[in-house]
Amino acid sequence: MNRRQFLASVSAATVLPRPGFAGRTPLKLKAQNVTQQILPEGEGATAMLGFNGSMPGPEIRLKRGAQASIEVENALQEGTAVHWHGIRLENRMDGVPVLTQELINPGDSKTYRFVPPDAGTYWYHSHYISQEQVARGLMGPLIIEDDTPPDVDHDITVLLSDWRMNKDGSLVDEYTDMHSVAHAGYMGNFARAFLSKDTVKTGDRVRFRLINAATNRIFPLALEGMTGSVVALDGMALAQPRPLGDLVLAPAQRADLIVDITGPVGFDMMSRQGAYRLADLAVSGTNTARAPTTISPLAAPDLPRPEAPSQHLTLTMMGGAMGGRHGGANIWSFNDVSDLPTDPFGKFERGETVRLTFANDTAFPHGIHLHGHHFYELAPDGSLGDLRDTTLVAAGESRDVLCVFDNPGRWLIHCHMLSHAIGGMRTWVEVA
Ligand code: C2O
Ligand code: CU
Repeated sequence: MNRRQFLASVSAATVLPRPGFAGRTPLKLKAQNVTQQILPEGEGATAMLGFNGSMPGPEIRLKRGAQASIEVENALQEGTAVHWHGIRLENRMDGVPVLTQELINPGDSKTYRFVPPDAGTYWYHSHYISQEQVARGLMGPLIIEDDTPPDVDHDITVLLSDWRMNKDGSLVDEYTDMHSVAHAGYMGNFARAFLSKDTVKTGDRVRFRLINAATNRIFPLALEGMTGSVVALDGMALAQPRPLGDLVLAPAQRADLIVDITGPVGFDMMSRQGAYRLADLAVSGTNTARAPTTISPLAAPDLPRPEAPSQHLTLTMMGGAMGGRHGGANIWSFNDVSDLPTDPFGKFERGETVRLTFANDTAFPHGIHLHGHHFYELAPDGSLGDLRDTTLVAAGESRDVLCVFDNPGRWLIHCHMLSHAIGGMRTWVEVA
């Protein structure tokens, strides 16, 4: 990231719009063309895609354990499909064209029904030519409410993304530019965060739900004006809150924080060029009623405990054979296979515990996402680490995870740098 390539960052005190966050849970999402003010007020608005007239789409809040039904209407001039990222749902509701459903054609609708089993911070996004449709705005926050919410004064969603824009705010239409696909992916030249509220008080205790909705950008974050803990990652509560240190979110990853406000709040992306302001949150007044208390863990999620793994499979991220054995312009692969193979990479019995090694044999980091399940990252000594649905693997490194494949169906595994996914870094597993 070269800061000078950015048009501007969000400067202090700029009042940013909060499109779509207010209001009731819609039972209907209408995918359509929208115009959104992404650049600071006074600069050009951006013609893009969104849901219900806004980008990001509306914040959907659902009750854990309750049947949800969301009708997606396609008012675009192209097909689409919506994926409920991180939700352990029924396979046919997963939103993946070809693998789990037909495309929703222009003018058509599809109703997605599922019972979200875990409270936490999730998001929804298009899973059709997603490197383009997500970059153009087809995404939004999905919050599964806690049975007993933590004692906080505010619950604020912070959705991070970037966009590649011309000076007038129009999007640069280079979603499949092969140079980006073959490198770190299609990156924006302007980044910001959308917040669901715009004012807090000093002394308030706040839950922030951070979502990286960017197609390819990893956000190393620095947060100002708060002290507190990370309480959940990728929706899943940590057994013990962790001190708020450096926070890195790969595309699609989430982090929930519970913090006490100590002064003016800023969300910064860190880079070699210094801090880049993604958003400010105005602080006005002081909350004197709140006595400082320690931050308790959120309720533990109810997932099956892993057993001794019955299989150990290695998935190696590799370059593809461009114009070669796989045909087409395949640039990335898993185990030297670009794009979805006819046969699944793994076949598992329902409930089987499997050890997976994600080995990165490339010069770029990759954020590997498994659909329909969460998995445990493993520490080098083999002990269980964090539960995640997307794990960031640095160039040349590898990560072992343990997953209980208890959700029947056909599930994608892909790099969530969406340019890499379209470049071929995708495969699938089948759970009987
Ligand atoms: Cu966030 Cu395959 O998706
Ligand atoms: Cu990747």
